[in-house]
This record gives sequence, structure tokens and C-alpha cells, in this order.
Amino acid sequence: MAKERNFKTISSEDDESTERTIMNRRKFMKYGFNSAAGVIAASFGVLGFASILMPGGGGGSGDLSVKYWAKGREDSAWYGSMHLQEMEVEQFAMEASKSASGMAGASGVWNGLPVNVVYVPHNENINSAPVSNKPRFQFSEGYDGTNKYVGHFEDIAETDDRIVPADNVVIVFGRCPHLCCIPGWQLVQESFTADNWTSGGTDEGGNKLFCICHSSRFDPTLLEMNMNRNRNNGQEFTYAGIRKTGGPAPVGQPIIPAQVNGSGVIEGIDDYVDWLTFCD
Ligand code: FES
Repeated sequence: MAKERNFKTISSEDDESTERTIMNRRKFMKYGFNSAAGVIAASFGVLGFASILMPGGGGGSGDLSVKYWAKGREDSAWYGSMHLQEMEVEQFAMEASKSASGMAGASGVWNGLPVNVVYVPHNENINSAPVSNKPRFQFSEGYDGTNKYVGHFEDIAETDDRIVPADNVVIVFGRCPHLCCIPGWQLVQESFTADNWTSGGTDEGGNKLFCICHSSRFDPTLLEMNMNRNRNNGQEFTYAGIRKTGGPAPVGQPIIPAQVNGSGVIEGIDDYVDWLTFCD
């Protein structure tokens, strides 16, 4: 059956990525209001992350919660006083309410792995036009580092509804697909990433995740299907991730599918840890 897709209207300022199709309104509604559910399984045995394990308190086997990671930023980050405390979605919503875009982000640790968590007021904005500062998740086609078409986010999301962000939260793995940097990931507010949001996953405005190593930028609201490979054994794999909008990184960042438990704590679903193995 043919997929239902709308083409986004592009402006002369938009880059080529905006010519790609994004999911239509009905699909947004379907995915935007699906709650995460299902069996949590799998182990972390496939990962070789010993070299990047973050010290102490980052959760252990069976603990799916994401903790704040504010080391060195205790006095500057909005979550500075909550280092290693479990992230609660309401804390993000409260912080997001102070920003012009209604978004908020924080660095964290999930089962010893560095992550960034971004709050996007998707459910509040999905019924309005995708104008500036009405951020929502966008689902799009993805292209690998050679610009070869890989697939559409909905192709991978249709295999498991839990891949689609629910509860306005996306968890992004904290290693850069360029040279595997970890530190310096942050939501930035610079000239090209002011505290505003525009649609289409471009580098023009909008909060971006930023790698300070060589300035790669990623739009945490634009989800796509993409491809990466394990640098050790060369094995390629497709994954769901956020779009690279600029810089030398060849592809976007993988997500860790998220859910919010009955206590409001943000958790990562551990069925897709293979997506994180590109630096192994
Ligand atoms: S390692 Fe992130 S841009 Fe180079």
C-alpha cells in the first residue's frame, strides 16, 4: 500500500534536506499520541562500552531510568542540583515553559552511557501549523553519509511503535558519529541555534544538539531512518536517529527509544542497543 506523505513547502533559504518528505498530519497524530508499551528485554552484552562508562550511579543492569549528568555544571545548568537524580518529565516541562521555543534539554547517563534528553512540546503543538516556535517531532526520510537513500522513519517505526517518541521526550545517544566525541554535547543557543524552532530539520534556527569537537549539529526534533556501521567489524545497521544539520558528522545521532513510567521517570528502552555500536 502506498505510503501517505505530504511534501513540505520549501523556501529559497531552505537547504536540500527540506525537499525530503515528512510524515503527514494523520501519521503525526497516530504516532504522537501512542504511548510507549511492550516488553522490555535484551541485555547489554552486545556493547563494548567499557571505555566510556561514566563513573558511579549511572544505573545498572535492569535500571532503565535516565539520570541527570551535571558534573562540572552544577552551578550553571538548570539541572545542576540534580546530578545523578532520576529525570522526571515534569521537570523538563517546567524548564521548557521558560523558553521561547518550549523546549528543554539536559545531559544524562543511562546504564553507564552518555545521553542527551530533549523535551519537545509535540503533543501541545501537533494540531497547529508547523510555524516557527511551534516545535513538534517530524518524521522524515534519511540518507547515509554518501547521500544514498536509506529509508523513512515510518518504515522503522512501523516495526515497533515504541520507537516513536511519546510523552514529548526523545533520548539521544551522547557519542558523535564523526569521531566519537562524548563531552560537550549540549543544547546551544548561538547565532545559528537561537532559542527558536523552525520546521524541516535544517541548520536555520532552532535548538540543536551541538558537538563542540568539530561543530557538528543535529536537530533533535527531526527523526529519520539512517545507516551506520560498527567501526570494529564493519557491520552495517539501520537505526532511528535525529538528523545531522551541519558539520562533518556523516550521519545523524541514534536515539534510544524512550518511555515515561508510572512515577513520571524517563526511561530508555534497551531493545535497540545495537544502534549505539558505531564507535565499538
Ligand atoms: S567528533 Fe563531533 S564533530 Fe567531530
